[in-house]
Amino acid sequence: MIITSATIIFVTYYLAYRNPKDFSLAHASALVLLALMATGSGEEARELLRKPYVIGGHMYSNGMRVRDVAAANKNGYLRDNAWMGSSPDDHWVRGELMYRGQCGSCHTLTGYRSLDKLMAGRDRESVGSFLTMLHEYKPDLAYRKFMPPLTGTPEEINALGDYLYSQANPGPATRSSDNRLAAKTSSANTSTH
Ligand code: HEC
Repeated sequence: MIITSATIIFVTYYLAYRNPKDFSLAHASALVLLALMATGSGEEARELLRKPYVIGGHMYSNGMRVRDVAAANKNGYLRDNAWMGSSPDDHWVRGELMYRGQCGSCHTLTGYRSLDKLMAGRDRESVGSFLTMLHEYKPDLAYRKFMPPLTGTPEEINALGDYLYSQANPGPATRSSDNRLAAKTSSANTSTH
């Protein structure tokens, strides 16, 4: 970042300022590209420095306050979280809300840092053990450097696991968000919960 910034200053001064006539569109474009690189790497460094907190030691990047973690584990993340409204009773909606509330500030399902790729290749059990690890948040857990703890009751974590697993493995055997409505109206499907 420092090297790119220094190059930008150097080029701007010696080429653009001292010899404006020789400064072509190609030079200008290269300079813009360098500027974007400098900003990009700076932003990335800043983002990594701050994780997993948005307010160091007080609030995690997903909005969870450190002092509220225990209550969310005991009473339920979805019940205690003001953003979630009243806790829905549909298993798949609960899974999706858990994802949105606790993972969605840093991950997407299919785009940036997508969970379908990061979860790919894991069976349902392995998704579950990953979530348990993030929930237990042991002091030596390497993910603590950039991920907040997963909060909620075992049932909520299970709903998140089902939801994420179905997103990473779409297909007739699993349910994606597309057929959640069907799941809502068919009681036969609830046997898999
Ligand atoms: C504060 C931001 C943040 C939040 C919130 C967050 N993550 Fe992450 N997560 C990251 C970063 C950064 C990485 C490393 C990304 C990479 O390797 O591309 C990561 C990596 C992962 C990985 C890959 C781990 C590996 O070793 O393969 C998984 C799976 C994952 N996150 C799941 C989750 C789940 C599930 C949640 C919600 C319960 C969540 N994350 C919440 C930032 C976050």
